[in-house]
Amino acid sequence: MPPRKKPAPRRIFPPPAVQRRLLAAAGKAAARSYSPYSRFPVGAALLTAGGTIVSGCNVENSSYGLTLCAERNAVVAAVAAGHRQFRALAVIGGRDRPARPCGACLQVLAEFCQPGLPVLLACHKAPFQPEVLTLGDLLPEAFHLKP
Ligand code: THU
Repeated sequence: MPPRKKPAPRRIFPPPAVQRRLLAAAGKAAARSYSPYSRFPVGAALLTAGGTIVSGCNVENSSYGLTLCAERNAVVAAVAAGHRQFRALAVIGGRDRPARPCGACLQVLAEFCQPGLPVLLACHKAPFQPEVLTLGDLLPEAFHLKP
């Protein structure tokens, strides 16, 4: 019998050390959240293709509808800084259970990210124990003008 090939080790992406850095950045951003109305701080951190981490937090407004979500703030900050390719996203929101990114943020993420983008979701109580989903899990049928 020919020697059985050893299966290639499954690579975790992002590697655990990078996951921790992303989650730490999301937590730091959440600490800067301006959310006096909802008292629901959210922080998001994007890992760019070049390895840079760009973060954002939610910023609320007296005119409630003008509130800006953490994820979209991270995307626009990254794009304004010249990044358009992303490898992972971490979001920290919710006290005991990780909040899901809203549909509008998912659609904005889908403009720049592949459906396979790993999305780490953690809550404030356990910021380093993320649920790991993908953008495609959260928004399986994104709208695209150029299909
Ligand atoms: N929020 C986010 O920052 N991201 C989301 O994906 C959903 C909601 C914020 C907006 C608002 O400041 C607070 O959470 C409560 O809705």
